[in-house]
Amino acid sequence: MLNVVVLISGGGSNLKALIDAAADPAYPARIVAVGADTDAAGLAHAEAAGIPTFVERPGEYPGRDAWGDAFAARIEEFEPGLVVSAGLMRILPAGFVRRFSPRLINTHPALLPLYPGAHAVRDALAAGATETGVTVHVIDEGVDTGPVLRRASVEIARGELEDDLHERIKQLERPLLVQTVREIAQGGIDLAAFRS
Ligand code: GAR
Repeated sequence: MLNVVVLISGGGSNLKALIDAAADPAYPARIVAVGADTDAAGLAHAEAAGIPTFVERPGEYPGRDAWGDAFAARIEEFEPGLVVSAGLMRILPAGFVRRFSPRLINTHPALLPLYPGAHAVRDALAAGATETGVTVHVIDEGVDTGPVLRRASVEIARGELEDDLHERIKQLERPLLVQTVREIAQGGIDLAAFRS
């Protein structure tokens, strides 16, 4: 059984998809804790499922590295085999990445390397793209630059609004993340191959 800590900042629909998948005893991973950098609405999904949560706010630390060290220490209490950033809207400090990568993955709402960063859906629309999607990748020390594990694409409708497109991306993203974690747990994806 793969023990997973999930990190969020927002509504946590991807987290909810993982929690729901892990409710099936046949799913090879379980969510042992959920961490956030703010009082994220999505923490309620964990609380409803009886999963421990923790919040570490960067503003309460003298700098990013100190916050990253504190966040990492909270995560390590749960001895995870995998850490999943599922809508954590924060760049993780290098020291944090070195502690967990390659057993540290992220889901991003674009076909990386296109549209990295915090506004991927908006950026795809602004670029006039006709296609975008979702990428699940290993986190390295860059911003959305780590090795790609799985991707899925979606066509952009003419005149589509950011929120509508993002929701359509998430409809692909949730099952893709659930499937990627399953493959990691079962060994079909060998994260050790990405050790730097
Ligand atoms: C997801 O689409 C995720 O890919 C994105 O935030 C959303 C969180 O949704 N992450 C990023 O943009 C990171 N750069 P959720 O809170 O409903 O799971």
